Amino acid sequence: MPLIIAIDGPAAAGKGTLARRIAAHLNLAYLDTGLIYRAVGMKAQREGLEPVKAAQMLTPGDLKAPDLRSEAGGQAASKVASIPAVRAELLEFQRRFAEHPPTPAVGAVLDGRDIGTVVCPNAGIKLFITASDEARAGRRHKELLERGESSIYARVLEEMQARDERDRNRSVAPLVPAPDAVVLDTTLLTADAAFEAALRIIADRTHA
Ligand code: C5P
Repeated sequence: MPLIIAIDGPAAAGKGTLARRIAAHLNLAYLDTGLIYRAVGMKAQREGLEPVKAAQMLTPGDLKAPDLRSEAGGQAASKVASIPAVRAELLEFQRRFAEHPPTPAVGAVLDGRDIGTVVCPNAGIKLFITASDEARAGRRHKELLERGESSIYARVLEEMQARDERDRNRSVAPLVPAPDAVVLDTTLLTADAAFEAALRIIADRTHA
């Protein structure tokens, strides 16, 4: 059985950065599942497709669209992500990646909203990464400014809260920690401290 690490949590909690660092450190393959939902949402909009059709017709090229990481990409993702048939279309691919990670990886790290609850309920390690709304919005705001994009903090906070609210309250695969997930609150942690804390949790669980 490959080692599977599931990392879930709300928007802008630092899951992606953490997941990438863990994957590189432990020789694991990394899958950003949010990017898949973003690609489906943006493809549906761009090509005027019904969201389930967009999920069925998704190509590797769609995952490279330049606008996926934008706020519009996040909102489009969260809308299609609430449709059960869209989620069902994407499930197999994610599971296959986790169970048969591309060589030479010895396992996989997946980040998203439902990895520990739905995609990989048997994952050896489950982390739920969270932080206060203000800390998350502040980090996202800073990141946008550093990328040279315009950003208004109050607007980032409002859009992030709206997206989390939709993700938490949807009927299928809502954002919720798995009962056996370790919750890591990074409000007062630097990225390095969060990484160290995650490595400690992983070491504790794998040697238990
Ligand atoms: O993680 P990211 O912000 O890129 O995710 C974008 C959106 O995709 C989320 O707000 C959520 O609605 C959806 N998503 C999901 N399940 C996942 C990953 C992302 O519903 N496993």
